[in-house]
Amino acid sequence: MFTETIQYLQDQGLTHPQVGLILGSGLGELAEDVENAIRIPYENIPNFPVSTVAGHAGQLVYGDLAGKKVLILQGRFHYYEGYDLNTVTYPVRIFKELGVETVIVTNAAGGINTSFQPGDLMIITDHINLAGNNPLIGANLDAHGPRFVDLTETYSLRGQAILRQAAAKEGIHLQQGVYTWVTGPSYETPAEIRYMRTIGGDAVGMSTVPEAIVAKHCGMEVLGISCITNLASGMQSSLNHEEVMEISAKVKPRFKNLIKNTLALL
Ligand code: HPA
Repeated sequence: MFTETIQYLQDQGLTHPQVGLILGSGLGELAEDVENAIRIPYENIPNFPVSTVAGHAGQLVYGDLAGKKVLILQGRFHYYEGYDLNTVTYPVRIFKELGVETVIVTNAAGGINTSFQPGDLMIITDHINLAGNNPLIGANLDAHGPRFVDLTETYSLRGQAILRQAAAKEGIHLQQGVYTWVTGPSYETPAEIRYMRTIGGDAVGMSTVPEAIVAKHCGMEVLGISCITNLASGMQSSLNHEEVMEISAKVKPRFKNLIKNTLALL
């Protein structure tokens, strides 16, 4: 199933990736800092999902960043776009097949925790899956991992410590907390946000959890970062995607520094 994709990517020179990165809304620019880059549009890759949204054509970027060989997914696939979760997480399995050991997943998220501000960066320490689906449903891929996956430490404690160390180096303030996954694409209601706060959610978003579960299934180390782009529904007067993009653009320089320092320490 993966052979054709892997063969093609290895033929293009994607031979030794160490760290896989998935860049969230407004955070894709980090891929422009990769040196000795090989950039491959998704539509050129056999069996790879293709973005259906105009102007969202994604690409894989391979090369050197902060002393590591990285493989970046510049543009991810969301469940709300209509892809099934096998498709959403196909690139993560390709990371595994190419030899990636650590995956850094990033996203834009709404802040549920009342001490968060738009523009904060949050280490994901754990997640709550409220999407009513799981990317591991279906026949188990025994070659990648077990049927019943332990999610006790989905987001590696070592990785969390490295993120803190990387932030401290730059004087970057980091929040930490639990990311709550919903399907979207509608934003939440204020009542849903109150519910999520009650059950322990600190942030809410429409991505990341399927990729993290599959990465964990494959035995890869997972690090997660949320960019808090807004206060969640009911905590500010209204929500819109333009604000999400505007705040993530402002956070970008800090985000890039954090990821580069993290890569150097991994
Ligand atoms: N809710 C869900 N997803 C999001 C939000 C939000 O408030 N902000 C950015 N992505």
